[in-house]
Amino acid sequence: MAKIGILTGGGDCPGLNSVIRAVVRKGFKEGYEIIGIRNGWKGLIENNVVTLSFASVSGILPKGGTILGTSRTNPYKKEGDTQKVKDNFKKLGLHALIVVGGEDTLGVAARLIKDGISNIVGVPKTIDNDLSCTDYTFGFDTAINTAMECIDKLHTTAESHHRIIVVEVMGRHAGWIAIEAGIAGGADVILIPELPIDIEEVCGFIKERHQRGKTFSIIVVAEGAKFKEGTLVVQEEKLDEFGHIRLGGIGETLATEIEKRTHYETRVSVLGHIQRGGAPTAFDRVLGTRFGVKAVELVKDKKFSRMAALTGNKIIDVPIEEAVRELKTVDMELYEISKVFFG
Ligand code: F6P
Repeated sequence: MAKIGILTGGGDCPGLNSVIRAVVRKGFKEGYEIIGIRNGWKGLIENNVVTLSFASVSGILPKGGTILGTSRTNPYKKEGDTQKVKDNFKKLGLHALIVVGGEDTLGVAARLIKDGISNIVGVPKTIDNDLSCTDYTFGFDTAINTAMECIDKLHTTAESHHRIIVVEVMGRHAGWIAIEAGIAGGADVILIPELPIDIEEVCGFIKERHQRGKTFSIIVVAEGAKFKEGTLVVQEEKLDEFGHIRLGGIGETLATEIEKRTHYETRVSVLGHIQRGGAPTAFDRVLGTRFGVKAVELVKDKKFSRMAALTGNKIIDVPIEEAVRELKTVDMELYEISKVFFG
């Protein structure tokens, strides 16, 4: 029986288990054996694997996280690790590998394809929704629904206390979570990495609301947003294996600036990893399921080095290399819509 390996890498997100379940169930229907690789690329370096059965994926559809575990391991970081990946791929007798990940994990897949492991298929994952060539990545919908619920909750306390509340959301260098959760949650200003923050303008919007009789405001800020003149606010200078800095803290800086200028009492709420947890929404379960089934079809049709993707309401396939070439940032048409409600 031909073997397909599957790994989940990078930051976890709701919907990963939907993909794993779909790969196993569709894979069995097509006569494949499915090998789960633990903890992303780390599992292929260490040959840490598990054979997946019907029982392994039973009941996992509504669960957040990933039953396979994940890591931010980059096999191109440490001398010898790429060779270990290649050796274990052979040792395990894998016919193909399904890689479920974002720009980093799929970036490794793209490099491995060039380096000779060509039987790889990709599935786009991330709460950040910043992968190119797909309208949505799974995990994003759950994250924005979680953030929206938090914004709803912050509204009632902001209103009761006549405060400004700055809500810091994730998303790395793309403002998708901020813009969509902000629109859905009725934010009064939304700040995204794609556009520099003009603090005077932000305070102007807040003052405008107060002149209209409102005594509270909700400001949603993406963790990767920057002041006009400033650099990124970071939690830690240390880079991860993919060269990423740990973002976070812009909310606090922004709140201080707002309070200083407006003299309105201001608080901050950093949503953090809450956005990555919990049960996937129906949208993410369906998207993850469709991506998983498509990934097995791609293997069956020998359409390697392709990634399952969503365009409109259709699942298509695109080159992995193209999907990771550049970040998909916020559509300015959507930003213009959000701006209608600023102030
Ligand atoms: O890419 C997903 C993401 O949640 C980003 O939005 C965030 O910047 C980053 O991961 C946080 O990473 P970690 O879980 O390693 O702190």
